[in-house]
Amino acid sequence: MTNIAGKAVLITGANRGIGQALVAEALARGASQVYAGTRAPIEHSDSRVRPVTLDVTSAEQIQAAVDAIGSLDLLINNAGIAGYDDLSDAEVIARHLEVNLYGTHAVTRAFTPLLARAGGAVVNNLSITAFAPLPLIPSYSISKAAALALTQSLRTLLVPQGVRVHAVLTGFVDTDMTRGANSPKATPASVAAAIFDGVEHGQDDIFPDAMSRPMADGWRTLAGSALEGPYAALAAELRAAA
Ligand SMILES: NC(=O)c1ccc[n+]([C@@H]2O[C@H](COP(=O)([O-])OP(=O)(O)OC[C@H]3O[C@@H](n4cnc5c(N)ncnc54)[C@H](OP(=O)(O)O)[C@@H]3O)[C@@H](O)[C@H]2O)c1
Repeated sequence: MTNIAGKAVLITGANRGIGQALVAEALARGASQVYAGTRAPIEHSDSRVRPVTLDVTSAEQIQAAVDAIGSLDLLINNAGIAGYDDLSDAEVIARHLEVNLYGTHAVTRAFTPLLARAGGAVVNNLSITAFAPLPLIPSYSISKAAALALTQSLRTLLVPQGVRVHAVLTGFVDTDMTRGANSPKATPASVAAAIFDGVEHGQDDIFPDAMSRPMADGWRTLAGSALEGPYAALAAELRAAA
């Protein structure tokens, strides 16, 4: 996607934090429609914003959103949860997976036909904890690592449908999610701008802030990234032979 101007964009978790900044940035770049996916109702002063009730763990709400939206160029899977834990409770791991992995998967699957029709793209807001778990939030880190594998897999699997899939490897950002953490944090607005810059410049993996940016070169030469191409070719070969 070369330009956000004139495009229809859906952002999940759009009511606060990075999601709210993504809505503002999409509008500033001239998006024709911004579907703001939220769990609770919101209002917005810009007539291009259409609120959509969307809990990413609800199959019914996801289907209702697909029916209501009808045409879409860009899906941004931004909704996410993060809680402190110590891996002593499997339920906590499951809760993180439900939103951060299965929610992302379900919303992407449901909107893929619309995105394929538009030659569109998916953006998954992940985290640098996908590379290295932060032991304060190991369940969250597990969910983001799994969501990175999901993103890389979909990137290859959706090529035949003409849908591009971007990963955002985000560092610390100043939102409710990081309240109380004293580390340097990027502003949600700067991260939102960097995400759209990455999409417009066709970057598969987007490093949108000062903390994550130095990791970009290393990631592109690491096994996980370097194996993507050979794995895609191997998968195609084995599928053809099956
Ligand atoms: N902040 C950071 O440092 C940071 C770093 C790396 C990655 N990220 C990622 O960036 C994304 C946004 O995070 P943020 O920092 O903006 O967090 P945030 O301020 O806590 O906002 C989280 C958003 O996700 C929504 N959400 C949670 N569960 C949902 C569900 N089941 N269905 C739909 N929406 C749901 C929340 O809606 P409600 O208001 O209804 O709860 C809220 O809009 C997340 O995926 C997060 O993992 C953040």
